[in-house]
Parts: sequence; structure tokens; C-alpha cells
Amino acid sequence: MRRLDQLLANLGYCSRREARDFLKKHAVTVKGQAVRDPSGKVSAADVRIDGEPLDHPDGLLLLLNKPLGLVCSHEEREGPRIYDLLPERWQARNPQVTSIGRLDKDTSGLILLTDQTEFVHKYTSPKHKVPKLYRATTDRDLSPDLIPLFAAGTLVLDGEDDPCAPAELRLDPSTPRTADLVLTEGKYHQVRRMFAATGATVLTLHRTRFGRLTLGKLAPGEFRSVHEDEI
Ligand code: URA
Repeated sequence: MRRLDQLLANLGYCSRREARDFLKKHAVTVKGQAVRDPSGKVSAADVRIDGEPLDHPDGLLLLLNKPLGLVCSHEEREGPRIYDLLPERWQARNPQVTSIGRLDKDTSGLILLTDQTEFVHKYTSPKHKVPKLYRATTDRDLSPDLIPLFAAGTLVLDGEDDPCAPAELRLDPSTPRTADLVLTEGKYHQVRRMFAATGATVLTLHRTRFGRLTLGKLAPGEFRSVHEDEI
């Protein structure tokens, strides 16, 4: 049970201060009874707003196909943000919707977003080794020697103390400058820096998988709601 004004504010309907006005403007019921007092304790499942159940009252977990050119930071001065793609009410949620890990501005593909802080901690923790699959294209042909190098778990990136965890590199001889790389961790700019450590520059980078989740038919900029069990 939560105070109604708190619940409405958490879900982005209005601020706590605006709750009394919100109740005047909208038909809000709890177990079918009209409510005017925002301070009463309610169960989210019992609340209807203008006849509709609450919008994702148990929290959001979204899979977004991140387009190129958007940032995962909340800072507007860093450029257009992935959060601007979301409905306004979701942007107003508190806790705020944030990405689980980050993709660079110049990286596209699968990213998870949530307002559930425990998911952010869980899935960015080094203890939680979720495999993430990236497709990279590079400025030069990739040698099969990179496969054991990345798999060894001994590659130390510039400025890091600890080596990268073993990573699986898959090369396709028909496209010698394209590779798939599976990482179970997420160091800053890790894919670009791993290739840079071998002398190659990553030209394009796209994430296609996070655990068992894939993009499916989502176009860039589109998102869908997912359940944690699907990861
Ligand atoms: N590695 C990178 O270099 N960039 C990303 O966006 C993700 C992984």
C-alpha cells in the first residue's frame, strides 16, 4: 500500500503537489469508489484513472533498438537522448527511467531501460555475467589469431588494471572486416578498446543480443516492454 499522491508521482501522472488538482480533473477510483483525498493509502491494482488501470504500476522494463546518434546519459547537453523517445509520462517517472549499462552515441542496437534500480545494479554488476552480443565492422581484415587472444582472458586494456574476461570472437571469412563478439562484462567502450588493442579501429558497432533477448522486428527507435524472465 502506498499513498495515492506518491503512487501517481512515482508513475509520472503528476507531481505529489499536483495530485489534489489531478484528482479534480480526472475520475480516479479505488475499488470503484471515487477519491478526492490524495493522502489515502491504496493498492495500485485497485486504482482506475478515467476508467483505465494504472500504466505499468509494477515498474517498466523496456527493450529499445537504440538508433545511432542518441546518448544514454540523462544530460541534455551531451546530445539527443534515448529517453526522449519514450512517452512523456514515462519520462516523468520517479525513480527515473534509465538504461541498464550504456551504449555509445555511435553504437546502435539493443539496450534495456528501467525505472527499477535493482535491475540496473543486478545487470551491470560484474558478478552477473549476462552474455551480450555485438557486431562490429573494422578498418582492416581481422586475423583468426584474435580468437584465442580474446578468449584467453588476459587482454589488458589501456588504463585498466584487470584483464578483460574471456570473450568469444566469431569471424566470418566471407566478410573479413566484420565480426561478432560476445562479452560478459561492460567496461567503458570495451568493444572499441579491445579491437584498438589489436591495432584495428571499429567503424560500426551494433548490439544484437542481451542474454536471451534479441531485437526481433523492432526498428531503430522502437521499444517494447519485456519481462525479466526473458533475459
Ligand atoms: N563497447 C563499446 O565500445 N561501445 C559500446 O557502446 C558498447 C560496448
